[in-house]
Amino acid sequence: MLVSQVPALKEYWYPVAYSADVVQVPRPARVLGEDYVIWRGREGAVGAAVDECPHRGSRLSQGWIENGDLVCGYHGWAFAPSGACTRIPQNDPEAPIPPRARTLSVLVEERYGLVWICPGMPREGIPALPEADDPQFVLIHEIMEVWRASAPRVIDNALDVSHLSWTHRNTIGDSANPRMNNLKVERDGQRLRSRVSYVSRLTAEQRENTGLTGDFTTRVTNSELVQPFVFRDVMEYENGLRHVLFKTATPVDDTHTLFCQFIARNDNPDEAKKAGIVALDRKIQSEDKELLEQIRPEFPLEMQTEMHTRTDRMTVEYRRILAELASEGSLVPPDHAWSRPFVDAARAAAKAATSPREQG
Ligand code: FES
Ligand SMILES: [Fe+2]
Repeated sequence: MLVSQVPALKEYWYPVAYSADVVQVPRPARVLGEDYVIWRGREGAVGAAVDECPHRGSRLSQGWIENGDLVCGYHGWAFAPSGACTRIPQNDPEAPIPPRARTLSVLVEERYGLVWICPGMPREGIPALPEADDPQFVLIHEIMEVWRASAPRVIDNALDVSHLSWTHRNTIGDSANPRMNNLKVERDGQRLRSRVSYVSRLTAEQRENTGLTGDFTTRVTNSELVQPFVFRDVMEYENGLRHVLFKTATPVDDTHTLFCQFIARNDNPDEAKKAGIVALDRKIQSEDKELLEQIRPEFPLEMQTEMHTRTDRMTVEYRRILAELASEGSLVPPDHAWSRPFVDAARAAAKAATSPREQG
């Protein structure tokens, strides 16, 4: 499936920018293939609307803010964050403004230092992320960037603890220790939780970041699918440190994702320590990005399309959850529409390898 084939995905909240970056300058944001404009208007309120002026369709993100209202650069109509038009410069000032002269507003809210929008009627609120609001933890923003990868592939990677020993063998993984201990997976509606322990590498950077000593530690990871494109992971270290990782994947379109990562820590790190933590987490994510950007954006929903092992139970459940969402009036064609050429080529290669004489 591709994200554009699942209408239900419009009914969730997605982060589109850091709150601090939404100032009195309109900025574009793209979610599920639609263009939006976001801006900070009167009394600091954030507005969000389809990026199209109701007059002649100009891009509102090309305009500017004046007296707290969003001004369209084409003929100067102005709009409040509610969407209401507050000025049509070419009309007499006394003439009433037609009620239809409105931007197509979308729901917008600020939470965890991020601006979130919901393109449709929300079926759930902005996800509750307990440690991001907890005064015992420090919230640190780490990454907000567009990846050339699809949103389900990005979250699939987050839910997949077993890649850690391999993909991250040069940072926190140990490819000599790929086994997951006591993997437990639970599903609760559209939420997934897993708990697992494994050997994690302690490089000099990681020793600095965690306060642990030695070359390896046993780390416990409590992963959670909070919403289809929102992930939370409470990592427990032996010394009581909790490193809580939040990842969101805003589907920009079928092939691009606005990846956002922030963490909460219970060790009140100073600025130098924070910089070290962020640097290592960015390095780890770049290892994922390099692989994810080369994986096809279509996400398989049929269990037979890929192969699965015992440690893939979390990501198998993720496919089931997305398949259920996709079945709600979606237009998803069967996987074989895109996987057939790949499967045929693999079968032909296997056949050629087992019957060399037939090749003559
Ligand atoms: S197109 Fe926006 S004011 Fe005319
Ligand atoms: Fe990873």
